[in-house]
Amino acid sequence: MTRTPLIAGNWKMVLDHQQGTLLVQKLDWTLKDAKHDYSAVEVAVLPSYTSLRTVQTLIEGDKLSLKLGAQDLSAHESGAYTGEVSGAQLAKLGVRYVAVGHSERRQYHGETDELVNTKTKQALAHGLVPIVCVGEPLDVRKAAQHVEFTVGQVTQALSGLAKEQVAGLVLAYEPVWAIGTGEVATPEDAQEVCAALRAAVAEQFDAETAAATRVLYGGSVKPASIAAIMKQPDVDGALVGGASTDAADFAAIVRFR
Ligand code: G3P
Repeated sequence: MTRTPLIAGNWKMVLDHQQGTLLVQKLDWTLKDAKHDYSAVEVAVLPSYTSLRTVQTLIEGDKLSLKLGAQDLSAHESGAYTGEVSGAQLAKLGVRYVAVGHSERRQYHGETDELVNTKTKQALAHGLVPIVCVGEPLDVRKAAQHVEFTVGQVTQALSGLAKEQVAGLVLAYEPVWAIGTGEVATPEDAQEVCAALRAAVAEQFDAETAAATRVLYGGSVKPASIAAIMKQPDVDGALVGGASTDAADFAAIVRFR
């Protein structure tokens, strides 16, 4: 089973829609100059909600090969939920990927595994591809409980899904202690947990599903660290934060080979 690598840039709450337009244009020019083969490595950008329409218009208007993603979605289908954005609204904007359960959502908004499961189902219900984010805090890593911890997050996030749905979604292992800290996990750290997550999917569903599901690593990924991480057999790409807001750095990460 070959899994197309995915490099996704999570811009977080950093760029406005004008800065996002410039970044996408620079990224496209840089990758075009490098004759990037998007069928070999898929590239997605996850702007803030305020930039989605602008970036979508640019991608569709200029027929760019970038995929559009969102950083979150509502657990609700529709209605009186001030400030929230639904899966239906995202799908209408041409969004393909949506991050679910990012550690910053779990930390600052108290998102639980149960809520992550509901959001994952909402994304799938609207034809979006969830990027289900899991990762342990430093104390769990120090207690060597990181595999059990992240496997538990994945098992709960995928509860009640059909195996066909799981085969088409993306998992992202983002150790909290590596996010925004500059302390990237070693390739061996990334492989250990990504392999454990894949094994957990095999147990919860079946081996074929596990072989199809893409598992990304995220947490201080930079041009200098991506190649060794991508050499790991169970790592299928990266979810990049800080480095994704610089066109040259993100293009270098995309061109990891
Ligand atoms: O979603 C990706 C993000 O959490 C990683 O951030 O800045 O450590 O690459 P960063």
